[in-house]
Amino acid sequence: MNIYFQKTNQRTFGTFPLTGDELRDAMKIAAEVGYRSFDTAQMYENEKETGDALAELGFDRDEICVTTKVHPDNFTEEAFIPSAEESLKKLQLDYVDVLLLHWPPIGEDIAPSLKLLEQAHAKGLAKNIGVSNYTAQMMRDAVKIIDTPLVTNQVEFHPLLNQDTLLAAAAETGIPLSSYCSVARGEVFKHSIFDEIGKTYGKTAGQVVLRWILQKGVSINTMSTKRANIDANFDVMDFTLSSSDMARIDAKTHTEYRIVGEDLVPWAPKWD
Ligand SMILES: NC(=O)c1ccc[n+]([C@@H]2O[C@H](COP(=O)([O-])OP(=O)(O)OC[C@H]3O[C@@H](n4cnc5c(N)ncnc54)[C@H](OP(=O)(O)O)[C@@H]3O)[C@@H](O)[C@H]2O)c1
Repeated sequence: MNIYFQKTNQRTFGTFPLTGDELRDAMKIAAEVGYRSFDTAQMYENEKETGDALAELGFDRDEICVTTKVHPDNFTEEAFIPSAEESLKKLQLDYVDVLLLHWPPIGEDIAPSLKLLEQAHAKGLAKNIGVSNYTAQMMRDAVKIIDTPLVTNQVEFHPLLNQDTLLAAAAETGIPLSSYCSVARGEVFKHSIFDEIGKTYGKTAGQVVLRWILQKGVSINTMSTKRANIDANFDVMDFTLSSSDMARIDAKTHTEYRIVGEDLVPWAPKWD
């Protein structure tokens, strides 16, 4: 099994856009239901509060997997390593388990930031490195630019968006995908098919969606503030969708509903 899947147990609790008590409470519930993998980013401006919550939870360091992401504004020789060190300080950690490049750089020459990421790994600031929001071509280029394995490409991934091109690139390059916006920020619940399929397994619509993602070979990031949803999102390992149900859900990807695009972030590349 891929090291990122092992480290995260295929399920990571995302912290965006949580802050303050809401973040602390949600992380506490997540830990109680079994999450040991947590995802933050410099851009979320909640690394300090994530670190405080982790300290309060009091896990042994090797029990947890912590991911953070370098902001594209810090993709320079001067800023990259100091920014990663600052992230560690805020998180109260000596290293992160996974350090990602949050977005490709504007202009899309990916080589300099990948080399800086590799330096952070060599310095021991991160046990593993990866990327986020890379296109299929960037994935293919990345494996030629650096030698250190990239353990994931974290991308928007849910059943209302066709990501077959990225899945093919993942198989070709050995960089597995992980999902964000896994329930399309609630949009999936407007489609009755997930509920219908869920009834035959005794599972909720959300669990069907997440199970579909896992069975595509993609590990999941989910965020919720509600105990019932946090619990349900973690509880997706005890059933398997049939190939006909997988195919029915695959057909929904023609919806091409994309949440994170150029209108939201200036770094968004031309998507596949
Ligand atoms: N790399 C990137 O560029 C990037 C971009 C976006 C996000 N992310 C990461 O991915 C994580 C997850 O993505 P996301 O939060 O944007 O999207 P998401 O998980 O699709 O949506 C979160 C929203 O869906 C609701 N929800 C979650 N589980 C539910 C369930 N089982 N039933 C009903 N509603 C449910 C939550 O509301 P309630 O609180 O009411 O449950 C919350 O408002 C983020 O926290 C962040 O760590 C990364």
